Amino acid sequence: MDAISLLKDDHRKVEKLFAQIKDKKDAADRERLFTEIKTELTVHTEIEEKLFYPAVLDAKVAHELVVESFEEHKQVKMVLADLDQADKSTENWIGGLTVLMEDVQHHVKEEETELFPRVKKEILSEQELEDLGKRMQELKTRELASVKGS
Ligand SMILES: [Fe+2]
Ligand SMILES: [Fe+2]
Repeated sequence: MDAISLLKDDHRKVEKLFAQIKDKKDAADRERLFTEIKTELTVHTEIEEKLFYPAVLDAKVAHELVVESFEEHKQVKMVLADLDQADKSTENWIGGLTVLMEDVQHHVKEEETELFPRVKKEILSEQELEDLGKRMQELKTRELASVKGS
């Protein structure tokens, strides 16, 4: 699978999980879905930061967007860590979850409407996107195993 399709698939998966967790009242349901969201986002940001972003960072048309993306990831990880620690039965927790969801939505939109089209059009060839996608899939498999094993 090419790198961009792989990342978009991840985005759709996380959106689905957010839609599911939003209406859950039960703390155990929230816990289970939140763990899934955390795993998905952790692995996704990792493969972007280690492989996708570095592959396009030096291109003038992408540079600024990628620098901003690294910062947005930092923020997402901070909110994730906060939510992980907090009592999941409160309405504050749901408030925090909404903030996380909005941050992720904003970031995903920027990637899909600005960064990815530029990468596709001006930076990486189809073959390069395929090769990168393959490496990303490999790293993803390894990261998933280590996140779930820890
Ligand atoms: Fe990202
Ligand atoms: Fe992404």
